[in-house]
Amino acid sequence: MERWVGKVAIVTGASSGIGAAVVQRLARAGMITVGLARRVERIEALREDLPAEAGQRIQAHACDVTDEASILAAFEIVKRQFGGVDVLINNAGVAKPQVALLTPGNTQDLRTVLDTNVLGLVLCTREAYHSMRARAVAGHIVNVNSIAGHKYFAFPNLNVYGASKYAVTAITETLRNDLRNENSKIKVTSISPGLVRTELIPDMPEFHRLPMLEAEDVAGAILYALGTPPHVQVHELIIKPVGESF
Ligand SMILES: NC(=O)c1ccc[n+]([C@@H]2O[C@H](COP(=O)([O-])OP(=O)(O)OC[C@H]3O[C@@H](n4cnc5c(N)ncnc54)[C@H](OP(=O)(O)O)[C@@H]3O)[C@@H](O)[C@H]2O)c1
Repeated sequence: MERWVGKVAIVTGASSGIGAAVVQRLARAGMITVGLARRVERIEALREDLPAEAGQRIQAHACDVTDEASILAAFEIVKRQFGGVDVLINNAGVAKPQVALLTPGNTQDLRTVLDTNVLGLVLCTREAYHSMRARAVAGHIVNVNSIAGHKYFAFPNLNVYGASKYAVTAITETLRNDLRNENSKIKVTSISPGLVRTELIPDMPEFHRLPMLEAEDVAGAILYALGTPPHVQVHELIIKPVGESF
């Protein structure tokens, strides 16, 4: 991670679960780490678990990735404060397990899943890319995908969640191809975990029985991808807890 020391990372969905773990790992590794989420006070609280020297590298900004103006404002603040972004971790995501595909009146929930998991990720990627290109930075964009982005699995109430993650798989390929076509040195990585013990998992007995990764395990995989040499691109990492059946 030496080449990222003192550089700037943006982590979306930084207030909880995988995003919170990534923020702490990046700050410990020496990156100026800007956490974005709606519950900004939870990002600020992440400093408390770290040595002061690492904690002061965490910046917290309120951002709703379903709102383009909110995304643009967050990237503008990062530009003004630090000049721009070197690493983007596209992690914000929702599942809305209280609605199925055919639940009456579910339109807003379906839109929220797609706006957060797909369009929010694309808009953050676009803004990060332009920041990196303007400063000739060989940056890195990491998409937190899911095994649900590679294979359908028959969980109840997945609504458009699986479709949103299949979209992340396609977007990762599209981005890699677009970057390659312009000889860009910016890397793109998709990280696809199986079940991870976070607030995203419904609090139901059938889930409690299943093997799960911890958020820290996924954060470790993201740091591994970031730490590879400039010519090495970890393109896709599927990570499952031992014993996962799907
Ligand atoms: N848990 C799993 O089993 C699992 C498996 C595979 C992949 N994933 C993926 O991992 C990523 C992180 O999820 P997690 O498991 O860590 O869940 P989590 O603990 O529920 O965290 C989700 C994060 O996304 C943020 N978020 C949601 N809507 C947002 C919005 N409109 N604007 C900004 N931030 C928003 C939340 O922050 P605020 O609510 O404060 O805004 C929160 O920080 C997601 O992309 C998820 O699909 C999770």
